[in-house]
Amino acid sequence: MSSLTLRNLKKRFGRVDVIRGVTLDVADGEFVVFVGPSGCGKSTLLRMISGLEDVTDGELRIGNRVVNEVQPAKRGVAMVFQSYALYPHLNVRDNMGFGLKVRKVPAAERQQRVSEAAALLKLDALLDRFPRELSGGQRQRVAIGRAIVGHPDVFLFDEPLSNLDAELRVHMRSEIAALHKRLGNTMIYVTHDQVEAMTLADKIVVLRDGRIEQVGSPRELYEQPDNIFVAQFIGSPKMNILPAGSAAGFGAQPAGAVSVGVRPEHLSLVAPEKGQIGGKVVISEYTGASSLLHIRLDSGETCLVVVDGDAPEADMKVGLLAGTDNLHHFDTDGMALRKSRLLM
Ligand SMILES: Nc1ncnc2c1ncn2[C@@H]1O[C@H](COP(=O)(O)OP(=O)(O)OP(=O)(O)O)[C@@H](O)[C@H]1O
Ligand SMILES: [Mg+2]
Repeated sequence: MSSLTLRNLKKRFGRVDVIRGVTLDVADGEFVVFVGPSGCGKSTLLRMISGLEDVTDGELRIGNRVVNEVQPAKRGVAMVFQSYALYPHLNVRDNMGFGLKVRKVPAAERQQRVSEAAALLKLDALLDRFPRELSGGQRQRVAIGRAIVGHPDVFLFDEPLSNLDAELRVHMRSEIAALHKRLGNTMIYVTHDQVEAMTLADKIVVLRDGRIEQVGSPRELYEQPDNIFVAQFIGSPKMNILPAGSAAGFGAQPAGAVSVGVRPEHLSLVAPEKGQIGGKVVISEYTGASSLLHIRLDSGETCLVVVDGDAPEADMKVGLLAGTDNLHHFDTDGMALRKSRLLM
């Protein structure tokens, strides 16, 4: 088991700065999720931790050991990729044991470790099959098994479920959560999936352009985003950001508020004359359990609202209500004006 410490970590490819100074502490046994837009450096950061990419600058520690110069096999980390790349000509048993064989682990111990991992991942009955004879979810489990048999201190997952269909993703997501509970290892997990991030993470790291925007528990990021970027990145559909003037009807605003954020699920619809602000339905998207409404506000902005049950149709006039607890205020730089500060 191991903690992880990143100190002002940087990565440059030629003249391009890809990781621009990342400082992060990961506790022993913690489940940390990296999220951020495509190209922000999530995979690069994982590859630096695993040793597949070297570190341009800064310090990387696994446990108490600085590992900047330590070769990948000696770091005690295992990585699971999106494209799980199993060996097609090897059966499940040999795919899982391959890395151990390369490392000259004796046959009896190899056997033992593969059996343990297979039991954990419910692959016992599939050990003699070849990858082509497995479903996507089973292949993904073999890829995870290959990581487990090495008994790593730290697991790194780079979008491991993104090739699976929706139902299988949900299933594998709960399996990964259960695996973390059983093994208790430190895990770092990259995903584009909001629900995976929110449900799996002890701690979410939001990255943008090679830098950390905010680190916090799923609830902290959802309830107290530090800035507009995080506010709109966490949560789906994303938070509405309105100019303070247009949102004045929602209530008092702190000094310095330039924009106001409110999540689509935190707005409710009422009759036009009862709303704090008014608007008209432009599009009404029925999604089953709820509907997503695009509302053109009287001030001209567009605002998204999620409603359960019956939704008004396009062209209907509506009123909007927001509870003051659900409003986020941002200054001219897009930084949050915190509630605690507002009370003073
Ligand atoms: N070997 C390389 N040489 C030059 N640039 C690279 C190299 N590898 C990655 N990059 C660049 O570094 C940036 C970060 O890439 P990275 O793969 O880490 O992004 P990511 O956050 O994982 O994105 P995605 O969500 O699309 O997987 C990108 O702009 C990418 O083009
Ligand atoms: Mg990536």
